[in-house]
Amino acid sequence: MIELKNINKKFGAGTVNETVLFTDFNFKVKKGEFVSIIGSNGSGKTTLLNMIAGTLFPDSGRVILEGSDITALPEFKRAKRIGRVFQDPFKGVARNMTIAENLSLADNKGKVYGLTKGLSQKRINYYKELVSQIGLGLENKLDVKIGSLSGGQRQAVSLLMATMTPIDILILDEHTAALDPKTADTIMNLTNKVVCEKNLTAVMVTHNLRYALEYGNRLVMMHEGKCVIDRNEKEKKETQLEEILAKFNEISIECGN
Ligand SMILES: Nc1ncnc2c1ncn2[C@@H]1O[C@H](COP(=O)(O)OP(=O)(O)O)[C@@H](O)[C@H]1O
Ligand SMILES: [Mg+2]
Repeated sequence: MIELKNINKKFGAGTVNETVLFTDFNFKVKKGEFVSIIGSNGSGKTTLLNMIAGTLFPDSGRVILEGSDITALPEFKRAKRIGRVFQDPFKGVARNMTIAENLSLADNKGKVYGLTKGLSQKRINYYKELVSQIGLGLENKLDVKIGSLSGGQRQAVSLLMATMTPIDILILDEHTAALDPKTADTIMNLTNKVVCEKNLTAVMVTHNLRYALEYGNRLVMMHEGKCVIDRNEKEKKETQLEEILAKFNEISIECGN
């Protein structure tokens, strides 16, 4: 479970560009929840994920992960417990390293060694098995550098890297937004499969309203640092795309994008 408690966050404090984003903001994700988050541009979705990951810190308030206060814990110390996939298929992978080397890095998350010991055949076979499960035929390309893969293949490997070790929470920030629609569907399906099979707690920000409705067991819409819609599994199932679209248009027009 992750909990953000009484969060206040502003940017550019004391300057003409001061933006007050979160005021006494509270947000809780229970174990096993798969939350889809949509919202207007600048509503605070990425900042929310950044505060969970420790890339950004709240001005005040607390961040609690599985009961322990991690408010002051830096990103690298949280990384072991938090898996993350970004929009940019190059973020989160080392492009000059092979698939196997990238998996090895992720496999040894939180430990300083990894590549230095070399990869045993046993480990390589394990990676092959893992990669074959994503169904993109990458199991015979373990020696190929990540940089030469397509965006979709890279996102699939990123997802694997983020989830191959035990984590408390998976965060996804518009991880299908840079892909063509068909590849985005493939990655979204794969994401759903991984989250369900591993029973992960996940927070997914998506620009795709259809994905937000179709996947996950909770739906949140954000606007100006607030959750303007928050529906549980049952309510979400009864929610129609038209309603969400209308609400989305309303807040987007209101903030001019
Ligand atoms: N590092 C930063 N410095 C200054 N302003 C920021 C920073 N990060 C986010 N913001 C501002 O906070 C608001 C929310 O940003 P963000 O969380 O990225 O929104 P979203 O992901 O919902 O589009 C925006 O107005 C943005 O300009
Ligand atoms: Mg964002």
